Amino acid sequence: MRIAVYPGSFDPITLGHLDVIRRATEVFDRLVVAVLINPRKVPAHTGDARVMVIRAAVKEAGLDEQDRVKVIQFDGLTVELAKAAGAHHIVRGLRATSDFDPELQMAQLNRRMAPDEDTVFFKTGNEHAYLSSSLVREIAAFGGDVSGMVPDAALPMLRRASASG
Ligand code: PNS
Repeated sequence: MRIAVYPGSFDPITLGHLDVIRRATEVFDRLVVAVLINPRKVPAHTGDARVMVIRAAVKEAGLDEQDRVKVIQFDGLTVELAKAAGAHHIVRGLRATSDFDPELQMAQLNRRMAPDEDTVFFKTGNEHAYLSSSLVREIAAFGGDVSGMVPDAALPMLRRASASG
């Protein structure tokens, strides 16, 4: 069975992330979407909320069949997570050339730490290439309409955050 992990902050998941999830499920038998809980960074949304939203978005998109996509939280190294999941591939999305340098650096360091782990990049669909979680958060915080940028399942969480923030 070909297993891959797709780590990220997903704060919140965007349609670009969901596009990467969809395409990764066409290549891998099982995809573990892993929400990073970074103790050094205060997230806009809790890990639990991000996980619940991703699970709902995956279901909405019809990608939940036969448990092909598993959504979890993690707070360690991606390579350790991949090992524990029995995955030899780490999935990441590339939107534009500006993503390339930091992604290449991470891929090389991950490979150095775990020589049997390979990073596989999916080019985000053109229609989603301009999206970023931080800009979505900013638009939502000022009351802007982010439908069409994030899965519908993420809208209530963003509304709640903008009402309380
Ligand atoms: O969505 P993001 O914030 O771009 O994702 C970054 C992420 C979670 C993939 C990266 O920060 C990561 O892998 N963090 C886990 C800790 C780790 O393994 N760090 C070393 C990377 S070389």
